[in-house]
Amino acid sequence: MKELKIEFQLKELALNELTDSEYQLMQTAISAAENAYAPYSCFQVGAAVLLQNGVIITGNNQENAAYPSGLCAERVALFYAGAQYPQTAATTLAVVALKDGIIQPNISPCGACRQVLMESEQRGNTPMTILLCEKEKVLKISSASALLPLAFTEKNL
Ligand code: THU
Repeated sequence: MKELKIEFQLKELALNELTDSEYQLMQTAISAAENAYAPYSCFQVGAAVLLQNGVIITGNNQENAAYPSGLCAERVALFYAGAQYPQTAATTLAVVALKDGIIQPNISPCGACRQVLMESEQRGNTPMTILLCEKEKVLKISSASALLPLAFTEKNL
């Protein structure tokens, strides 16, 4: 028997340690969250994706009375980015959640979103930095694939 260890590294940044571009992306994600359609969970999530060409694409969660028909903010943003700019890599994704207008701690992409983040990253052939934004700090992960160890990919098919 061999014990294997997969390490996960991330950085915690105060807001004043963000670059201007990261701070702007966070603010854009907050604005996107404010427009979420989340009447059932009242948990409004916003995502902002910076593309390699400088374009920022936003998404927010879109819920539905038939609950599983809804979609998370991250996938709304990344699928739209893929639809509009199929040849352009996404370099940074900022995510934020609001409840009653207040930024929530511990936002983290769900498993299905991690799968999509990882494939978007592979498709763009460029590391995608993930910014998990809180009120006074941001967790920064340097690659989407780090969020999904032992992922199922096209190589498994
Ligand atoms: N949600 C997201 O949009 N992104 C996440 O990272 C976590 C969860 C949404 C799905 C649902 O509309 C609501 O938040 C509550 O789960």
